[in-house]
Amino acid sequence: MKIVTCIAPVNIAVMKYWGKRDEDLILPINDSLSATLNTNFMCAKTTILASPDLKENKFWLNGKEESFEGKRLQNCLREVQRRAKDMNPDVLGWKIAICSENNFPTAAGLASSAAGYACLVSALAKLYNIEGEISDIARLGSGSACRSIYGGWVRWHKGELSCGEDSVARQVVPSSHWPEMRVLILVVNDKKKKDSSTSGMQRSVDTSDLLLYRSDKIVPKRMEEMITSIKNKDFHNFAKLTMQDSNQFHATCLDTYPPCVYMNDVSHSISGLVHKYNELFDENRVAYTFDAGPNACLYILEKDVEEFLSVVNYVFPPPEVDQVEYLTGMPLENRKIKND
Ligand code: DP6
Repeated sequence: MKIVTCIAPVNIAVMKYWGKRDEDLILPINDSLSATLNTNFMCAKTTILASPDLKENKFWLNGKEESFEGKRLQNCLREVQRRAKDMNPDVLGWKIAICSENNFPTAAGLASSAAGYACLVSALAKLYNIEGEISDIARLGSGSACRSIYGGWVRWHKGELSCGEDSVARQVVPSSHWPEMRVLILVVNDKKKKDSSTSGMQRSVDTSDLLLYRSDKIVPKRMEEMITSIKNKDFHNFAKLTMQDSNQFHATCLDTYPPCVYMNDVSHSISGLVHKYNELFDENRVAYTFDAGPNACLYILEKDVEEFLSVVNYVFPPPEVDQVEYLTGMPLENRKIKND
């Protein structure tokens, strides 16, 4: 019998992945870039048991048994086992039981599949003793998962090959490069989203002209500028590019037919608040970015966290002032908002 456990954190994209050129291999139409969070708050945890005594394969997600036959799970498992072929024939023949948990809302636009598949593939790699590149295997589970294989600032290169071998993630700089960077998550709504990223982005590929313009004309140049601003720790420019990219991503969602609407009124008031706050200083001190859901991810330097949180507490008064609220407490949508 063999048991392995892994933990993987979520990543928050500052240059968004949206659109596939190959749906089976999960090959994207543009490069993307994210920071993998360095925290135990927003993680997936996966334990896998392999034993000659198990009669069948099993999979539990957040305590509920799910099908083991899902295509993405099968693709990841098949590829790990193929690479493990000669390593340990005994374990390879055993059935496995997979138990995965997220300690944050699943499928609410908080990158749960990224952490989930990165964690699953890391645990499978540990189980079968495979070494070397595994971000391309995590990609088969969920595109954004390939970035959670690495820590720090991570770029997913879209790659050119049709087999997907060069569609891998690479660390740009470690998190120690910019240790003052913080991420605040403002939970607007923790319900499961209506349009999954997978179906939404496919509809965008099929119907949005803006998406093509974005991937061809905007992302390549913006990516270089973004990497330069991260390497130079130029927060003002980093924040501008992050917000522009989030806005353009949501513009392509609205350009999709029928549109994918992920941000709501509260999301828009958060983005308005960030711009107003930044204007006070004549420089960007906070950057928002929204994934395929209404929740706001804010990049901010440590020195500015306390002051900005007091502004958020003023505008979205919580029942009790407690910073942990922002991770676990009442969604902002359910609070009374001050507009002055
Ligand atoms: C908006 O990785 O969840 O979060 O590859 O179909 O599983 P699939 O999609 P997924 O899409 C994430 C999209 C995004 C942007 C990003 O993380 O880059």
